[in-house]
Amino acid sequence: MCRRMFFVLFIAQLVPNATFMTWEIWIPPFVNRTDLLCPSDRCALDPTIYVTTKNQCCTCQAKPSWKLDLVTYDLVLEYTRRGGTAQLIGDTTIANARLVHNKGFLSKLPNNVCQFVNIVEIEATYNKISSIGNISCLQMLDTLDLSYNTIDSIGNSTFKNLPLLRELRLINNGIKTMEPYALAGTTMSIFLADLSSNNMTKIDLSNLVPENRFCQYDFSSNKIVEIVNEQNFQINVNKIYHGGFVDLDANDITQWFDFKDLGIDDITILGKIMQFGLSLQKMKWTCDCRMEPFLELTQDALKRIWRDYYNVTCWDPPEYRGLSITEHFVKGDKLDLLICNKTSADKCPKECHCFYQPKNRRTVVNCTGVGLTLLPKYVPEGENLTLLFEGNHIEYLEHREYFNRSYTISLSNNQIHTISSNAIESIGNNAILDLSGNKMYELSRDFQSFDPCITKLGKIKISCDCDDDWLVDWVKNKRAEQCKNTTEIICFIGEMYVSTIDLDLGNFCNDDTNLTFLNILIGIIIALLLGICGVLYTFRYELFILKRRFISKKCSKVYPYLEYDVFISFDNNDTELRIWVMKTLASYLQVFGYRIFIPCRDENFADVREEALIDTINICKNYIIILCDKYHTEETVWTTVEWKYIWHSFKLNKERQIIVINYHQLESSEVHENKLKAFVRVGKDIDFSNKKHNLFKDIQDRLGSPIRTNYGLKCAKTKFDARSLHNNELFALDI
Ligand SMILES: *[C@@H]1O[C@H](CO)[C@@H](O)[C@H](O)[C@H]1NC(C)=O
Ligand SMILES: *[C@@H]1O[C@H](CO)[C@@H](O)[C@H](O)[C@H]1NC(C)=O
Ligand SMILES: *[C@@H]1O[C@H](CO)[C@@H](O)[C@H](O)[C@H]1NC(C)=O
Ligand SMILES: *[C@@H]1O[C@H](CO)[C@@H](O)[C@H](O)[C@H]1NC(C)=O
Ligand SMILES: *[C@@H]1O[C@H](CO)[C@@H](O)[C@H](O)[C@H]1NC(C)=O
Ligand SMILES: *[C@@H]1O[C@H](CO)[C@@H](O)[C@H](O)[C@H]1NC(C)=O
Ligand SMILES: *[C@@H]1O[C@H](CO)[C@@H](O)[C@H](O)[C@H]1NC(C)=O
Ligand SMILES: *[C@@H]1O[C@H](CO)[C@@H](O)[C@H](O)[C@H]1NC(C)=O
Ligand SMILES: *[C@@H]1O[C@H](CO)[C@@H](O)[C@H](O)[C@H]1NC(C)=O
Ligand SMILES: *[C@@H]1O[C@H](CO)[C@@H](O)[C@H](O)[C@H]1NC(C)=O
Repeated sequence: MCRRMFFVLFIAQLVPNATFMTWEIWIPPFVNRTDLLCPSDRCALDPTIYVTTKNQCCTCQAKPSWKLDLVTYDLVLEYTRRGGTAQLIGDTTIANARLVHNKGFLSKLPNNVCQFVNIVEIEATYNKISSIGNISCLQMLDTLDLSYNTIDSIGNSTFKNLPLLRELRLINNGIKTMEPYALAGTTMSIFLADLSSNNMTKIDLSNLVPENRFCQYDFSSNKIVEIVNEQNFQINVNKIYHGGFVDLDANDITQWFDFKDLGIDDITILGKIMQFGLSLQKMKWTCDCRMEPFLELTQDALKRIWRDYYNVTCWDPPEYRGLSITEHFVKGDKLDLLICNKTSADKCPKECHCFYQPKNRRTVVNCTGVGLTLLPKYVPEGENLTLLFEGNHIEYLEHREYFNRSYTISLSNNQIHTISSNAIESIGNNAILDLSGNKMYELSRDFQSFDPCITKLGKIKISCDCDDDWLVDWVKNKRAEQCKNTTEIICFIGEMYVSTIDLDLGNFCNDDTNLTFLNILIGIIIALLLGICGVLYTFRYELFILKRRFISKKCSKVYPYLEYDVFISFDNNDTELRIWVMKTLASYLQVFGYRIFIPCRDENFADVREEALIDTINICKNYIIILCDKYHTEETVWTTVEWKYIWHSFKLNKERQIIVINYHQLESSEVHENKLKAFVRVGKDIDFSNKKHNLFKDIQDRLGSPIRTNYGLKCAKTKFDARSLHNNELFALDI
């Protein structure tokens, strides 16, 4: 009765807020024991506990039944010497035996502890124990609490053979070293280990990643500066690590873990231990590139399941001090701010700022506006360089070994005017090259391997010529029009500036098709001109005659020096013709008052004949040529001479007229003298067989009115004469 009351009270004390908790047997799948009781209500229902499975909850909440039942047996301890050695007194075979001895003088565990094989719990805090010793014999040991002693190291065999050791507390001992696999290994299954407030400077990965499920390992407030992997512990990718909570708060770790050094070549393997909780608070974190890959990997998970123990803040660099890594960098998507500076030792040019930026997978060499006059000789190692050389005074783009490792090369706003071929060759085709704002006046053909949309040349003016068709092709083929605002090449060609986008070299250069066309055109024009000239030349007399007729019509002026109205030139060897001229023609005209000069009749033979002829011709207003087949031949030398001077006079004096009477009705082809021929051609001759019977009237019309002066009485005729001749006219026309 009394004992039972005690039991109820105990329960109430142990879990004051859960008086009505129901405990049920829980057999962990990873340890061979059946004595654990788990508060099933709590583990199934309490949402405030970060649990996903009953096993995980019970790993933290379960208690051995003897703790709840109070069916334990406390052993009695007896000091045997002054140095803190002691021994146990009691029944060595009794079950659920406990050793509780706090605030004593023990320098080590009792000598005869191995005789009490059923010990389940040892609690010896605030003693002077400096070494745990060989406790492999305690096969039933469940709880070991040696906090506030002076244990300085833990070997890998200390807990190795304690298969039921569930709870280990070694707080504040000054432990400096803990060997690999000291806490975790295939034969151990420690649910809870508290090694906080010790002096450990490093911790081995094997002790952080137990294969079996655990509740919490607390290494907080040590002096840990790094996590190491001395025994080359490997995460087994085929195993499921259920994990637990690892507390590393308040240590001296500042640099993020180098997972490669930890033997984790592929950090995606860390996905295996993603269910682990890791608290890394109260440390002076250096927020740099080393942190980035892990955070990037866990970015999605971190955003989804926020846990307090990821509340990690930066200490360095100063500008990030106090910023939460998860809040600011991960959730704020600013992982690109996590960089590592490169120094001169890493081959960063001394004027420049170089850094590795894992988020963008690049190494940046920032030499913006630092006054470079040459490209740096060297830059840091790395495969994906971003070279920012803008705003300097660089004049030559020469070859550099690092160009083929560069993804972005910005050389905008420099003074570049010369580009070497091998420099261009070493720059990858997909590299982003920015040469805008330079002083380029020529563009080498090497550029045609670039995409004008990626290679920014800015607006450059170069001098182009007909060999630059590659330029036009380049611009057209690579759709440069769309990126006109980044690359536009203006050609100076044919005395004007033309954008290559609109440039048609054909307009400036004679290519083959245009050449033929032009030649033909010019040929035709020349031929036409020649033809026209030829025609004009051939028909020059005809044209002259036509022109004269037009002008002379208007000419009605009186020329006082003229003595004769008409000079009749004909072949006077032709008797019939002579008679017709003298009797018919001359008579007819004289009737109308025309003064006529007929060489054979009126010539003064005393004169030198040719001079006299010239004089006569000059004082006659018009000329009648009676064209017969012999008019202009070698036989009729005289008419030939007459004709020469008549034409000459005609040519010089606009008012004069030549009337050609085609006596023999010659065709133009039968007339050999060109000027005469022209008269026949233009129809300026008068057909002798004028069928309209108005030969004389025609002649008279053409002669115009006679010059009525007091001179030249020889040629004056009376009206009477004219009338008498009238019949002759009819006669003549009847011929
Ligand atoms: C539990 O013990 C049995 C035999 O007693 C053994 O076959 C089994 O491997 C053990 N399991 C574990 C997890 O130790
Ligand atoms: C610890 O004691 C066991 C016997 O209880 C013995 O077999 C083992 O070799 C000892 N280990 C060490 C490290 O001395
Ligand atoms: C335990 O540590 C010793 C040296 O301290 C080493 O030789 C041995 O291999 C280790 N054993 C295990 C299981 O790690
Ligand atoms: C552990 O470190 C603390 C603080 O540095 C120091 O006072 C103490 O003496 C160290 N303990 C041991 C056992 O070295
Ligand atoms: C994060 O840690 C700081 C101190 O290191 C604390 O003030 C803050 O409340 C913590 N935030 C969360 C969400 O735990
Ligand atoms: C890198 O260098 C810049 C300028 O020197 C400095 O402001 C920054 O804090 C440094 N960053 C890191 C992570 O060291
Ligand atoms: C190289 O850097 C650029 C950003 O500058 C990035 O977009 C690209 O993915 C990187 N390439 C590789 C192969 O890492
Ligand atoms: C490079 O440096 C210039 C001037 O120091 C700065 O304005 C610019 O933001 C820097 N660029 C990068 C990508 O760091
Ligand atoms: C870059 O060029 C150098 C020779 O100048 C060559 O040795 C190196 O392999 C090249 N690197 C790449 C990434 O092509
Ligand atoms: C260049 O033009 C493209 C398309 O017209 C446009 O999307 C882009 O914003 C422009 N860039 C600049 C710097 O004007």
